[in-house]
Amino acid sequence: MFIRRQLLLVAGALAVAATVPHARAQEETVKIGLIVPMTGGQASTGRQIDNAIKLYMQQKGDTVAGKKIEIILRDDAAVPDNTKRMAQELIVNEKVNVIAGFGVTPAALAAAPLATQAKVPEIVMAAGTSIITERSPYIVRTSFTLAQSSTIIGDWAVKNGIKKVATLTSDYAPGNDALASFKEHFVAGGGEIVEEVKVPLANPDFAPFLQRMKDSKPDAMFVFVPAGQGGNFMKQYAERGLDKSGIKVIGPGDVMDDDLLNNMGDAALGAVTAHLYSAAHPSQINKEFVAAYKKAFNNRPGFMAVGGYDGIHLIYEALKKTGGDATGDKLIAAMKGMKWESPRGPISIDPETRDIVQNIYIRKVEKVDGELYNVEFATFEAVKDPGKTKK
Ligand code: PHB
Repeated sequence: MFIRRQLLLVAGALAVAATVPHARAQEETVKIGLIVPMTGGQASTGRQIDNAIKLYMQQKGDTVAGKKIEIILRDDAAVPDNTKRMAQELIVNEKVNVIAGFGVTPAALAAAPLATQAKVPEIVMAAGTSIITERSPYIVRTSFTLAQSSTIIGDWAVKNGIKKVATLTSDYAPGNDALASFKEHFVAGGGEIVEEVKVPLANPDFAPFLQRMKDSKPDAMFVFVPAGQGGNFMKQYAERGLDKSGIKVIGPGDVMDDDLLNNMGDAALGAVTAHLYSAAHPSQINKEFVAAYKKAFNNRPGFMAVGGYDGIHLIYEALKKTGGDATGDKLIAAMKGMKWESPRGPISIDPETRDIVQNIYIRKVEKVDGELYNVEFATFEAVKDPGKTKK
């Protein structure tokens, strides 16, 4: 009996000893577990987000509301099993206060149950399928949804004399969202889909599909490939002579990512896409952002960089509002309804859905001072995710 009590006391003391230094460390440091693909086909997404966060922290400092911000970077190579294991390890062992990043939809979904269970905010900076924010009350998104831009380009196409479209979309959730939202608007407006192909997500060879597109003689092809694949797609598009056959590329702007656009060559000229961000967005904030990013990383920021920049800003501002309290529920409450001006334009977090509300711009690829840019020519203001209302 006596021995048992002693043992219990020892165990209790150990437990206290184990928690006290940790609790203190957490008071001083806010840890953010950043899970992004730094290798593999989606590596450009991870690189852009990591760069943008580094830039933000250089500009604003690495302390906020009296807390030191520590980023713990993990490369999941966009493989959801890795994401899940890494999120678990970061939450349980590293005791992170926030998990962030998520380069593809399956990765964002894999982490969602862990965010809920641990009450740790999950800030989605890249992935774009509508359902993501519904998978946990702890998810907040600073990227985009495919429905936001694909519905708008669907309407634009019918109004601009495009009657027949062939579609080429990456065969996974965001590709399916893009296709469904485009079709709904384009077909409702009287447009016709003459060919529909889905390409695998991993290492796609577009060539055989491009031949089918060409044969179906559409006015335009609607394309969704995830960030990082646009360069390869446009190379094969030009090699197969689709540009010469006058088949325009339209779609959400992922295929014309600024990160790769300037190396695509003249085949990209005239492509019209709807999207949240262009490096050519003519605001002062964006000019400064592009200049600073180029100076630091010797490349243009793309839309993934902006998702990362806004994601870390959201965390900083939420910490300011909570006075440095990084409790999950408090951070999420602080994030709901937050509004600010991003390099992409004015944005906010919808307090109901925790999803981003942002302008969607229609842009055309043009040469400006010898470089290719998505030049914005129409703006749809404060677009909420249209994918949410269909449930
Ligand atoms: C996604 O997997 O949700 C995703 C990835 C890259 C994009 C768009 C969507 O460009």
